[in-house]
Amino acid sequence: MSNIRICVAGATGWAGSALAKGIVEAPDLELIAAISRSNAGKVLGDVLNLPGVEVPIFRTVSEALQTRPDVFVEYTKPEAAKSHILSALQGGAHVVVGTSGLSDDDYQEIEQVAREVERGVLAVGNFALTAVLLQKFAEIAARYIPHWEIIDYADADKKDVPSGTVLQLANRLSQVRESQLNVPLGEVQGPKESRGTRLLGTQVHSVRLPGYMISVDAIFGMADQKLILRHESGTSAEPYVNGALLAIRNVSKLVGLHRGLDSVMEF
Ligand SMILES: NC(=O)c1ccc[n+]([C@@H]2O[C@H](COP(=O)([O-])OP(=O)(O)OC[C@H]3O[C@@H](n4cnc5c(N)ncnc54)[C@H](OP(=O)(O)O)[C@@H]3O)[C@@H](O)[C@H]2O)c1
Repeated sequence: MSNIRICVAGATGWAGSALAKGIVEAPDLELIAAISRSNAGKVLGDVLNLPGVEVPIFRTVSEALQTRPDVFVEYTKPEAAKSHILSALQGGAHVVVGTSGLSDDDYQEIEQVAREVERGVLAVGNFALTAVLLQKFAEIAARYIPHWEIIDYADADKKDVPSGTVLQLANRLSQVRESQLNVPLGEVQGPKESRGTRLLGTQVHSVRLPGYMISVDAIFGMADQKLILRHESGTSAEPYVNGALLAIRNVSKLVGLHRGLDSVMEF
């Protein structure tokens, strides 16, 4: 079987560069193009200090798509992600989305285009295995426990709220049901913002502080008992690599938009 040919948008970034190294080391995958505005015209091996990696870096998606990748990985910035994804689909590639911050409306549009062109999109708010498992366990908990809230932690400079991890979690929980509120938000005394935001039927509280990395608490409460599911990431981008490689290897089996790595995992 021939290798899967991949283009990574954001291959010089924190997450994208770790993934690019992972792809280069995988015997069944071939990195054929990279995208970065500030490094356009160079080769990726020179930028990432990977001798022998002669992958060209392009400024735009349309230039990079001339290399005809099977899979396009989006790992740039929320404001650029949707147009990159739509261009990649129109150019015939399947798409893996790691970038956070896309809205549910964005994803609806992406789903429509993916179905029209019969390509798969796998959007994963967090490729780390412990985050994927938190999502799965939270879905099970929500079937049995009607009250829950989510706390979303990240560093002080992260602009998008909540994190992609939490957006995806809220989306998945909404497919189980809405969390119950004993005091409806309209009847709260004091500033309603203290109760966080209601996102797809879940109360979400975002903390942005120096010293924090992406972490999530999914808190389920019942009378006299509670369950706290917590995912914490460390400082390296390493935990995201294996999950992204799994997504790359499987996205061509999909048609339309699928959210969450567990779409291609067996439980
Ligand atoms: N799903 C997950 O598991 C996961 C894990 C980690 C991070 N993330 C998300 O992934 C995204 C990237 O994070 P990061 O920390 O790697 O960011 P980063 O270090 O700032 O890297 C961003 C990369 O994208 C490129 N880029 C930015 N804007 C671009 C544009 N308009 N067109 C083309 N290339 C552009 C940058 O290169 P130039 O500036 O040279 O263009 C750089 O290569 C964020 O949304 C983050 O939240 C998700």
